[in-house]
Amino acid sequence: MSQTLVNPVPQHIAIIMDGNGRWAQERNLPRLAGHNAGAKAVERTLKAAQKAGVKCLTLYAFSTENWSRPKDEIEGLFNLLEQTLDRYTQDAAKHGLRLLVSGEKEPLPSAILEKIAYSVKSTEHNTGLTLNLALNYGARQEIVHAVNALLAAGKQQISMQDISQHLYQPQLPEPELIIRTSGEERLSNFLLWQAAYSELYFSPVLWPDFNEQEFEKALSDYRTRRRRFGAL
Ligand code: IPE
Ligand code: IPE
Ligand code: MG
Repeated sequence: MSQTLVNPVPQHIAIIMDGNGRWAQERNLPRLAGHNAGAKAVERTLKAAQKAGVKCLTLYAFSTENWSRPKDEIEGLFNLLEQTLDRYTQDAAKHGLRLLVSGEKEPLPSAILEKIAYSVKSTEHNTGLTLNLALNYGARQEIVHAVNALLAAGKQQISMQDISQHLYQPQLPEPELIIRTSGEERLSNFLLWQAAYSELYFSPVLWPDFNEQEFEKALSDYRTRRRRFGAL
């Protein structure tokens, strides 16, 4: 007997926004032009997620491994981030967006840290979409962070629940769906703990070209996935 299965809209979607550099390269533009175009794709995706009824979006903005990029690219990325943070914070008031940031503070520039603290604080009571920005984020570092917090609290034995409760954002549900753009099919140190039973969706589209239609494609693919969680 065949049964049409329809999963509800995910509460939490996480996205590895990849392909900015290749998008720029295809147009003979500097890599930073790709990151600028990528910031616009973020705004489109936020709107699409709100419209679809998603509660939380985690976006991988800068990994702990991205420090190995050229200094001027890193500087450009952080400048762009500062500008977009300002805009999101203004927008947040309009759309009820709540900002969270996940990652290690060290060695982020203090100007960025101040802006983040301000944006997080000023949006904390908003009840619309939660945007969790993974910034200077590494999943292995996150697990080590959790274990160190437990050791500091004097724990001798650690349970799975203990670790879950000491991740950067323990209050968020695990993402039902993880999307990666640009055709790469790996996690690149993203949400290793939380992804244990996430559905993975790989899109060939480069991140600056990502839009509502591509977002909908990922959602409709997710809708028909059989989520077994080890059972039959
Ligand atoms: C993703 O695009 C953005 C960041 C990692 C900050 P990339 O910059 O990795 O783009 P590609 O992979 O080089 O095309
Ligand atoms: C992953 O993309 C990190 C972000 C999207 C921020 P990368 O482009 O850094 O990943 P790799 O190096 O191809 O695995
Ligand atoms: Mg990349």
